[in-house]
Amino acid sequence: MNPRVSGLKSFENTDPLVKYTIEHSIRQTDVQKKLSEETLKMKMGAMLGAPEVLQLNQNLIRAIGGKKVLDVGVFTGASTLSAALALPEDGEVHALDTSMEFTDIGKRYWEEAGVAHKVHLHIDPASETLQRLIDAGQRETFDFAFIDADKENYDNYYEQCLVLIKSGGIIAFDNTLQSGRVIDAEANRPNIVAIRKLNEKLRDDSRINISFLKIGDGLTLCFKK
Ligand SMILES: C[S@@+](CC[C@H](N)C(=O)[O-])C[C@H]1O[C@@H](n2cnc3c(N)ncnc32)[C@H](O)[C@@H]1O
Repeated sequence: MNPRVSGLKSFENTDPLVKYTIEHSIRQTDVQKKLSEETLKMKMGAMLGAPEVLQLNQNLIRAIGGKKVLDVGVFTGASTLSAALALPEDGEVHALDTSMEFTDIGKRYWEEAGVAHKVHLHIDPASETLQRLIDAGQRETFDFAFIDADKENYDNYYEQCLVLIKSGGIIAFDNTLQSGRVIDAEANRPNIVAIRKLNEKLRDDSRINISFLKIGDGLTLCFKK
């Protein structure tokens, strides 16, 4: 098997069945479409969250009646925007990134979509922001976390999010297939090794129930017991 055939976001995947599922499910607002178009023109545009993943996040947030979301890794703001659109008027997305250059792009679209009042942007290394939220007494107050920042720190973010998420809440990890490289024995870059290790840990972690989905570049859903 060529691992590059699997583990691709829909906007990079030529599989006709993937195309079919996208054509029969993706519902983006005009603002979401514009944000995706602008982002995909950028040099690092492929970091954009896959629409099928972001829409599943939205549906999960709605299904659990989520009010507070952690978005770890904002980039140009697509995951923050989709979460904010799924939340009620008094909902909060805490958006964590180190880059003002990227998140300034997102700010324009959050404003245009009329959801900027729900977004709390934290510009700092995500582990510092998560620790600040824990120290500020926000333990077990969040409903949903989307982890999509630096892969080597995913396990740290997991442990911190487990503290911040309520029982019954969900932690979603993006890119858990690493474009198929998780099963390529020759692939040993630190990000791939970190994700492989995390996948093994999550498989055996009795604090959560788990679903590992082969959509986008792999999405692992952890349901906190
Ligand atoms: C894959 S992109 C996020 C994509 C975004 N979730 C979306 O839906 O388009 C990863 C982001 O993580 C950010 N990042 C990398 N290391 C970080 C860190 N230590 N703390 C916070 N953010 C970080 C990068 O600046 C980048 O914007």
